[in-house]
Amino acid sequence: MIPINKPQIDENEREEILKVLDEGILTSASNLGGKRVQDFEKLLANFLHIKHAVAVNSGTAALHASILAAGIKQEDEILIPSFTFVATANSVACTGAKPVFVDIEKDTYTINPLDLKNKVTKRTRAIIPVHLYGHPAKMDEILEFARKYSLLVIEDACQSLGSSYDGKQTGTLGEMGCFSMYASKVLTSGEGGAITTNSDEFAEKLRMIRNHGMVGGYDTRIIGFNMRLPEISAAIAKTQMKKIQSMLHKRTINAKRLKELLTAKIANHDIVLPQENPRVKYNWYLYTVAFNTLRNRVKKLLNDNGIGATIYYDPPVHQTPYYSKFHNGDLKITEWASRSVLSLPVHPSLTEDDINLIANKVEEAIKS
Ligand SMILES: Cc1ncc(COP(=O)(O)O)c(C=O)c1O
Repeated sequence: MIPINKPQIDENEREEILKVLDEGILTSASNLGGKRVQDFEKLLANFLHIKHAVAVNSGTAALHASILAAGIKQEDEILIPSFTFVATANSVACTGAKPVFVDIEKDTYTINPLDLKNKVTKRTRAIIPVHLYGHPAKMDEILEFARKYSLLVIEDACQSLGSSYDGKQTGTLGEMGCFSMYASKVLTSGEGGAITTNSDEFAEKLRMIRNHGMVGGYDTRIIGFNMRLPEISAAIAKTQMKKIQSMLHKRTINAKRLKELLTAKIANHDIVLPQENPRVKYNWYLYTVAFNTLRNRVKKLLNDNGIGATIYYDPPVHQTPYYSKFHNGDLKITEWASRSVLSLPVHPSLTEDDINLIANKVEEAIKS
């Protein structure tokens, strides 16, 4: 079986977890978090070249905390793509704000800057671009639009740790960036997340929000929750940070190899490969291709051969029962993508034979 993603766990994570158990301090309710939480935050902030990283216990919590820190209130509107994991929309909706769905671009599967102006209203307060599959959204146009309408930009970088746009890491371009360390992500702690920001004010609020709005003892200043990352998870995350470059490098090599094989075998057939451009660097969280007609046939043949090719996301959020009550306007490319995409594995554990097998089976399905 070739899974779509696989956590890269070795002796180093095991040792670090055992140290936490031996020391017996499993979490910390102090404002700054436990020892390993702080170590992880420093490593992440250094890697991203950003002032603050605030660790939390999921990517969803990272999004939720950022929306609270931004002071977004009931009836405020936030522009988000519908072509994303539902956590993006849930984090907005659970604050009482309204998610307003914006269409995506066909070449990146990320929010279409041109559609923002069709969806912005007097109530709009923020935009959450999602760097889906590790493909950076068109941040220069998004930031320019945000400036023009005085909107905050909170990046959903849950899938894009290590991707960059014009040389800057995703998650560092807007006011806040949100990362996930869920088990399938390029860097994992099992469950976990982090928010990054250059703002001292947001960082201070985020540290309170992850700890019930308290600053010390029970001195509760703002609304918050228990979003604390446990020390065992932080121990894993911290250890993973030390090998992030090599994990990303292996993904790049695998994606390059897969691209070469697919280009040589089936480029003129019904398949759209990821569109790379010199302004962006992908972390290759997933290698997502699209088919106008053959998607389900390719998926079945790959799955039948033990390859975990997976569809992210069908249906798109606006077509799920809860979110279909929101008025969405035209989301044509979102609906096309949802019918067409298929993600292929390129994670660091894959061998050259695995990559060859994936390409051969895609070719077999297309040509059969
Ligand atoms: C785009 C996106 N947003 C948000 C999340 C939520 O992250 P988590 O699963 O860590 O809560 C995920 C991860 O699954 C994601 O892929």
